[in-house]
Amino acid sequence: MKLPTLPKPPVPKRFQTKPDRPGAPPKPKPLEQAREAGITAADWVDERTSLSGGLRWMMFRKVPKGTNWFYTLGSATMFAFLSQAVTGVFLAMYYRPDAAGGAYESVRHITNEVFLGEFVRGMHKWGSSVMVILVFLHMARTFFFGAYKYPRELNWVIGGVLLILTMVMSFTGYLLPFDQRSYWATIVGVNINGTGPVVGPYLSDFLRGGAEFGATTLSRFYAIHMMMIPGAIAALIGAHLYLVARLGTTAPPWLKSNDNGNDTDMQDRV
Ligand code: HEM
Repeated sequence: MKLPTLPKPPVPKRFQTKPDRPGAPPKPKPLEQAREAGITAADWVDERTSLSGGLRWMMFRKVPKGTNWFYTLGSATMFAFLSQAVTGVFLAMYYRPDAAGGAYESVRHITNEVFLGEFVRGMHKWGSSVMVILVFLHMARTFFFGAYKYPRELNWVIGGVLLILTMVMSFTGYLLPFDQRSYWATIVGVNINGTGPVVGPYLSDFLRGGAEFGATTLSRFYAIHMMMIPGAIAALIGAHLYLVARLGTTAPPWLKSNDNGNDTDMQDRV
C-alpha cells in the first residue's frame, strides 16, 4: 500500500534563497568562496609585509640537470630537526629536571601514564638517531658531489657547526632520563671531554657546573638541550638555507658543464 506523502514544512523566510535577478552573474559556490577568502587574506598580509617576493625568491628556482633523490637529504635532516622540536616541546610539558628522583619519576610518568607519552618519547628518542644518521648522509652527499668547493665553503663550515651542535643535542639529551645508564654514560662522556688539550678541563668543569656531578649538571644539560642548542641550530639552518638559495645547488659531478659547474645546464623546474 502506498503511504500518503506529508507536505514539506515551510522554510522560514530568512533561510529562503532568493532567486537570481534575470541577467545577474551566477553566485560563487561555497568552495570558490573559501578559496577567494584565502586569497584575500594572503593579499592582505602581503600588502603590508611584501613577504611573497621573498617567498618566491626562496621557493621558485632553477635546479641543475640531474638533480636526484640524494638532494633531499638536507631537507630530510631539517624535517627530523622539526620533529624533534615538536616532540621535545610536548615532553618538556611533563619533564622535571630534578636530580633528587624527580627527573626519573617524570620520565616514568610520561612513559607509563601520560596519554600517548610513550609514543611521543619514542619518537623523540628514535628521532635523535634518525637525525644523526641523516646529517651524516647529507654531509657525505655534499662531500662526494664536491659541494664544499668555491663558492660554497662558508656553507660547508656552517654545516660543520650544525653537525657538532647535533652531536651536542644527543649528548645533553642522553642524561635527561637520569637513570643509571644515562648517569654513568654521561660521567664517562664528561671525563672524555676533560682529556681534551687546553680547553678540556675547563669544558668538563663547565658541563658539570662545578667539581661535582649532580643537580647543577642536570639543570645545565637541560637548559643547553632545550634552549641554547635548538636556538643556535634553527638560526644556523636559516643561514644555511639562505646560502643554498643564494648560490643554488651543485650539479652532480658526472654532468659536464660549460664553465665552473655552477650555473650552466640549469633546468627550469618552475
Ligand atoms: C642540521 C643539519 C643540516 C640541515 C638541516 C641541512 C640542510 C640543508 C639543505 C635543506 C640543503 C639544500 C638541499 C640539499 O642539498 O640537500 C643543504 C645544502 C648543503 N649543505 Fe646542509 N644541512 C645540515 C648539515 C650540513 C652539514 C653537516 C654539512 C657539511 C659539513 C652541510 C653542507 C651543505 C652544503 C655544502 C650544501 C650545498 C649543497 C649544494 O650546493 O649542492 N650541511 N643543507
